[in-house]
Amino acid sequence: MRYLTFALCKGRLAKKTMELLEKVGVTCEEMKDPDTRKLIFVNEERKLKFFLAKGPDVPTYVEYGAADIGVVGKDVILEENRRMYEVLDLGYGKCRMCVCGPESARELLKKQELIRVATKYPHIAKNYFYDQKHQTVEIIKLNGSIELAPIVGLSEVIVDIVETGSTLRENGLKVLEEICPLSARMVVNQVSMKMENDRIGKLIQELKAVL
Ligand code: PRP
Repeated sequence: MRYLTFALCKGRLAKKTMELLEKVGVTCEEMKDPDTRKLIFVNEERKLKFFLAKGPDVPTYVEYGAADIGVVGKDVILEENRRMYEVLDLGYGKCRMCVCGPESARELLKKQELIRVATKYPHIAKNYFYDQKHQTVEIIKLNGSIELAPIVGLSEVIVDIVETGSTLRENGLKVLEEICPLSARMVVNQVSMKMENDRIGKLIQELKAVL
């Protein structure tokens, strides 16, 4: 039997994902060691491999078949736009993709003005403003702490993830428009879905039963 390989997101989602997989008997003891510098973990008994990658790289591993299965946020799936199947909403990591800014920016969004939009998600922002709202904007790519941009005058608004809303509140910003809801999803390589249909199909059914 060949190994079934899972690409998981480093960070917030990883622990929840392992907890969920454990519920259906997909376990990896090695991975629980907090001091390990290992990148790849094996469950010999069940012929499974797991590795942790940066979120935006997970769809890349899955599209190329370096991982059969991935667990990643819907935000990353939308941004990366890779060829793969999204098979399951795992229900955790719930948050929203929003246009945010100071209250004063609300008018600018209504008037279809040429505004600057800072974001870690240029593809999602472009799709929303150009294709859905038909508003021409300038998109500025940032890599984190996006809320800074409207505060220091880099942009009028941002497109970013809102979970509890506390980052916005503490910085005097508001949700101005909601783009879409987000959560963790399971994705599968298109060839693996055919070649390993029995094993992957069974896993999906088992996960559905515990979700
Ligand atoms: C995310 C997001 C917001 C924040 C939202 O950032 O970009 O800044 O979390 O969460 P809240 O609504 O619960 O306050 P993250 O912490 O992942 O880091 P980043 O700023 O480096 O992107």
